[in-house]
Amino acid sequence: MVFFRGGVSLISKLRSRTVQQPSLRDSVRWLQYQTSSDLDLQSQLKELIPEQQERLKKLKSEHGKVQLGNITVDMVLGGMRGMTGLLWETSLLDPDEGIRFRGLSIPECQKLLPAAKPGGEPLPEGLLWLLLTGKVPTTEQVDSLSKELRSRATVPDHVYKTINALPVNAHPMTQFATGVMALQVQSEFQKAYEKGIHKSKYWETTYEDSLSLIAQVPVVASYVYRRMYKNGQVIPMDDSLDYGGNFAHMLGFDIPDMLELMRLYVTIHSDHEGGNVSAHTGHLVASALSDPYLSFAAALNGLAGPLHGLANQEVLLWIKSVVEECGENVSKENLKDHIWKTLNSGKVVPGFGHGVLRKTDPRYTCQREFALKHLPEDPLFKLVSNLYEVVPPILLELGKVKNPWPNVDAHSGVLLNHYGLTEARYYTVLFGVSRAIGICSQVPCPIFILLLVFQFLFVISI
Ligand SMILES: CC(C)(COP(=O)(O)OP(=O)(O)OC[C@H]1O[C@@H](n2cnc3c(N)ncnc32)[C@H](O)[C@@H]1OP(=O)(O)O)[C@@H](O)C(=O)NCCC(=O)NCCS
Repeated sequence: MVFFRGGVSLISKLRSRTVQQPSLRDSVRWLQYQTSSDLDLQSQLKELIPEQQERLKKLKSEHGKVQLGNITVDMVLGGMRGMTGLLWETSLLDPDEGIRFRGLSIPECQKLLPAAKPGGEPLPEGLLWLLLTGKVPTTEQVDSLSKELRSRATVPDHVYKTINALPVNAHPMTQFATGVMALQVQSEFQKAYEKGIHKSKYWETTYEDSLSLIAQVPVVASYVYRRMYKNGQVIPMDDSLDYGGNFAHMLGFDIPDMLELMRLYVTIHSDHEGGNVSAHTGHLVASALSDPYLSFAAALNGLAGPLHGLANQEVLLWIKSVVEECGENVSKENLKDHIWKTLNSGKVVPGFGHGVLRKTDPRYTCQREFALKHLPEDPLFKLVSNLYEVVPPILLELGKVKNPWPNVDAHSGVLLNHYGLTEARYYTVLFGVSRAIGICSQVPCPIFILLLVFQFLFVISI
């Protein structure tokens, strides 16, 4: 099965030839050359785009003939695993270190990005700013972006009607993706393209669509949740709240810790380089100049697969099946038996393993730290901690699993469950909302459109 594509981005490989080990702030790519007081994201991008266009030209002219390695049959069968096959700008996935967003690791993002309260979790708007511009935003810039997103968050009525046409028990991802497709009728890019817009202007309407899409997905997602589980009682947005906080609020959770969890959740799930199914799909569909709504809806359908985003649903359901059978205080011996039972029935242990990572996922680690801080006595958290000890040796014993360590999905469910979001079937929708930030960050500029075409050539050439 073709699952992950590539593990190494072209940019990272070329950069490793020329760039010295960067300091923390320098590592936010070379785009970060000043701290601007400009609060408007669009004008920031307007400044950056010509520089990026030059950069692409230079990349082609100076490195166009550089060979990137040998391609083996295994690499092709493995879906481009281990070969350089993608140009991905916003994040970089190191097999041992995990993800870096524009050069920043998750702990660095937690330290540098603005938070809702001192020492709190990073605001997803800050990450969006970072992904798009390569610069760490100021608190004022993040506030301004929060406000802009709120101003774009009104969802047209036909979207709700479209979702309502589905059975209420249809999978939440089906309802969510349908809602996103219904949002597409408002695409400014499509309208402008139909009018024959010059390609140098593509980025402006793509930016419009991307921001509106990012603003509206939490509203659509929470509508699906309230429709399915809370008798359709919708909770309106709170104008005093940020993006992640508002999402938790619209879902019906106002405990401050849950707001913090949602900020962290959306930030760490937003982007994971370009080789995973959802990011790659969004990127590929956008390379046909499909607008951000179409591209993101396609990505969501990939995210809905059990080996990708659906794994976070699977993890909690699996953990609950353990509790049902063995009780909350299950011994490690019983846990081992349950794991073998799962494996012997031809299933995978959800939440463990990865196509690229070869160590514990730092997205798992930061969620574990959140749990240690906020819910150390939660019985399911204790069970997850025991799994961390018990599962890897068993997977290693199988002799074929390349990474026996936990991934992001191994932890998210128990945190959400702790605060009352217990409906595991819904979890992938939260992941989907987060991914809008990463996927849209790869499409808004003409430079990125060129990169997309470039990448597409790479993909079809294997
Ligand atoms: C993520 C995942 C799909 C990566 O797949 P991959 O790149 O093919 O992983 P590997 O190369 O290590 O797989 C080699 C073998 O080990 C198996 N394996 C990998 N992870 C496993 C797990 N958690 N449980 C049982 N078997 C596993 C694979 O199914 C494969 O078996 P096969 O040769 O019989 O087909 C895989 O680890 C998995 O299915 N994990 C559980 C689902 C999950 O958590 N997904 C979320 C990912 S973020």
